[in-house]
Amino acid sequence: MKLQIVDCYQTLSRQAAAIVAGLIRRKRQAVLGLATGGTPMGLYQELIRLHREEQLDFVDVTTFNLDEYVGLTPDDPNSYRSFMQQHLFSQINIRAERTYIPCGDASDLSLVCRRYEELIRQAGGIDLQILGIGANGHIGFNEPGADPGEGTRVVRLAAHTRQANARFFARPTEVPHQAVTMGIRTIMQNSRKILLLASGEAKAEALYRMVCGKVENGLPASYLQLHPNVTVLADRAAAKLLADVGQPLGC
Ligand code: GLP
Repeated sequence: MKLQIVDCYQTLSRQAAAIVAGLIRRKRQAVLGLATGGTPMGLYQELIRLHREEQLDFVDVTTFNLDEYVGLTPDDPNSYRSFMQQHLFSQINIRAERTYIPCGDASDLSLVCRRYEELIRQAGGIDLQILGIGANGHIGFNEPGADPGEGTRVVRLAAHTRQANARFFARPTEVPHQAVTMGIRTIMQNSRKILLLASGEAKAEALYRMVCGKVENGLPASYLQLHPNVTVLADRAAAKLLADVGQPLGC
């Protein structure tokens, strides 16, 4: 794992965007794995800026999102489809038919999961997978206890995760109990490169255990130690428990 510590969230977002943009400029038909949540929002804003001001072209890019809530229609304001539309897709020139997100309100979710795995394979895998990390060490919605051998499937959300994500909903009770998520196997087998973003003190312990702890399903992100090409981009607050932090890059 390569660890890069930066001073603040703004620098983290810019650095992450520079990595994504570099890939797209080298490979017009890049396949990106995308994440939702608060952490990648700065990255998406910066990608929009690069599109508007520096002609970053998404027309041949394909994206696969990590996860979606079960029971929400794609146009529900709290669905991850709506999140991606609002924070990225509607503001760049990506083709809608190349933006894949599991459908969380389909009648046959196991078919949705099987097809999602197939679609990723057909796309030739993922060039760059963006990940956040839950304060409990989850990646995607692979909660502690997840079987690392599982692919895309329906999972139950941990109480901790529902609580953490309640800030996006009008009422905490509205947070769905289940989600469709790429599995740890999906991420590990299909991603040629992984960029994990971590910001804020709430992530410090999970990040420390991910980098320095043992590989265990109690902390799903720890499986990333077994992947050959992972870059961790963390701000100083998230990296505060990591001893060898080097010189943070300034804002
Ligand atoms: C969410 C998402 C994850 C995300 C994580 C952290 O529930 N399913 O993909 O990385 O939790 O979210 P945040 O960036 O808001 O802290």
